[in-house]
Amino acid sequence: MIRSFAPWHRYFALLVLALAAPAYTPPPLMRTTLNPQSAQTCLTCHVDITQQWGSSAHAQADRKLNLLFGRMYFASLQETRGATLVKCGPCHETEQYVTNDFDKVRPVSEEGITCVFCHGISGPGPTDAVPPVTLELGPYFGPIRNPVPVKDHASKYSEHFTKSAFCGSCHQYENQNGILISDTFGEWKRSKYAKAGVTCQSCHMPGSPGRVSSLGPARPRVADHSFHGPDKNRALQGAATLVLKLGKRGTENLRVLAVVTNVGAGHAIPTGNDQHLLLIRVRATDTEGHILWENDPFRDSSGSIFGLILANDLGAYPAETWAAAKVVADRRIQTGSSAQAAYEIPVGEAKGAVKIDAVLLYRKARPETIQLYNLPEDVYGAERRVAQATLTVQNP
Ligand code: HEC
Ligand code: HEC
Ligand code: HEC
Ligand code: HEC
Ligand code: HEC
Repeated sequence: MIRSFAPWHRYFALLVLALAAPAYTPPPLMRTTLNPQSAQTCLTCHVDITQQWGSSAHAQADRKLNLLFGRMYFASLQETRGATLVKCGPCHETEQYVTNDFDKVRPVSEEGITCVFCHGISGPGPTDAVPPVTLELGPYFGPIRNPVPVKDHASKYSEHFTKSAFCGSCHQYENQNGILISDTFGEWKRSKYAKAGVTCQSCHMPGSPGRVSSLGPARPRVADHSFHGPDKNRALQGAATLVLKLGKRGTENLRVLAVVTNVGAGHAIPTGNDQHLLLIRVRATDTEGHILWENDPFRDSSGSIFGLILANDLGAYPAETWAAAKVVADRRIQTGSSAQAAYEIPVGEAKGAVKIDAVLLYRKARPETIQLYNLPEDVYGAERRVAQATLTVQNP
């Protein structure tokens, strides 16, 4: 049976009213008539897919597992007196908002972006819904035109699953002030990849031949659900190049330009919200390996940080996404484009040649954020290498 789903923003409107009302009005009741299945039940037949999903960022999006999201979400609730309740959760903690299970009685409500949510999407939805999708509770929608029938669930083909717009329903959003926080889908749509038909799924869900289900036939492609980063997904390697160029030589200084080019990502680098950064660390050493100089990407004015900087209505920055009223700087590097940083390297005391090493790194959160929300440095401050370059300058 296909049950059409009432527009959820109505429930959310109720909820927001409840928070704003002076007397306590309980939130909407949990919808006990719906019984969405946990990923655990899919494991029986879709073993690989379920294990892959379990290791993905999608499965870890719940506030308990992603502390950055959890702590920021609570801060936003406090600062906006509950207004972000329905503005963050539905993309990050999906199923909880479908059944109003705010106490998370059911395990599925803690599964972040879970199977039954994505596979309940039949197509795009009203633009003011969060996220803007149409959910049809009943069959599981997917990309297979002729799925083998199974008594555990009905299956239904939906072309939407093969399109970038499917991902774009969450990977593209603006805040209540109309500030575009994440433009991943838009960046892709304007790129050569969109024209060539290279979708998000092509790069992020590489497939291999196998069985979709232990009860089904062998198929040419089973889509990988782990959404791994470039360390484990070869399709994502080599997103950027880094080149060092020697500029004018002064008597005491070397002027060096570092040029970063987005050669392989299907969108800007970094993409998504303002926390994600690319940064360049540069070091100059002499022939004996002594460090002559190092940059401090977060403090100097070299332009070593690439990302989005938001300000609040008073002009203070960096502001959190929900408080953002203005874009201070957008240094994300669009597909096929380059950006650069410039360094004045003091080499007055160098003996012999000077070696300049630069690395382009990706990190998930700014140092201020880690401090503000008291996050584990090893997880959120880790820097992953994207590209590197070396330049040797004979004795200046
Ligand atoms: C229901 C909303 C939703 C849909 C649909 C969705 N995503 Fe996501 N995605 C998220 C959220 C929220 C996160 C962040 C999870 C976290 O880090 O806690 C995320 C994280 C990711 C990440 C990891 C980012 C990182 O920092 O490591 C990738 C890659 C990704 N999604 C790709 C996709 C692709 C490709 C699709 C389409 C096939 C897709 N997503 C569909 C909500 C969604
Ligand atoms: C008893 C075994 C079984 C269980 C349990 C099961 N499935 Fe399936 N599922 C199948 C089979 C068999 C197919 C068809 C595979 C094929 O044709 O290659 C299928 C197909 C699908 C499809 C593809 C639909 C399409 O047309 O593209 C989706 C999506 C899906 N299942 C999702 C789920 C989810 C989500 C769960 C857990 C909530 C789940 N399944 C639990 C056996 C199962
Ligand atoms: C972020 C959304 C998202 C989540 C979460 C998700 N899927 Fe999928 N799933 C997709 C997309 C998109 C495709 C189609 C990929 C393609 O064809 O390129 C797909 C394809 C499938 C298929 C069809 C076979 C195939 O490989 O194309 C099955 C079965 C399936 N998913 C089951 C599951 C199960 C089980 C879970 C949870 C353990 C799950 N999915 C979680 C988006 C999702
Ligand atoms: C041409 C291949 C390609 C396509 C198409 C593509 N991506 Fe990516 N994506 C990448 C690469 C490469 C990276 C990793 C860049 C790096 O090394 O940091 C990435 C990283 C990401 C990240 C991690 C966040 C970040 O800042 O690095 C997210 C989220 C993401 N992609 C979502 C999407 C979505 C959504 C789509 C479709 C609208 C999409 N991607 C299309 C190649 C692609
Ligand atoms: C339309 C869906 C959507 C809404 C609404 C949304 N997010 Fe997100 N959020 C995402 C997606 C997708 C990602 C992963 C990639 C990216 O950064 O765009 C993400 C990533 C994040 C991250 C980074 C997680 C990490 O570990 O990298 C934080 C923190 C976050 N969101 C907080 C919030 C807060 C707080 C709100 C509400 C004010 C919110 N989000 C509203 C979709 C959404």
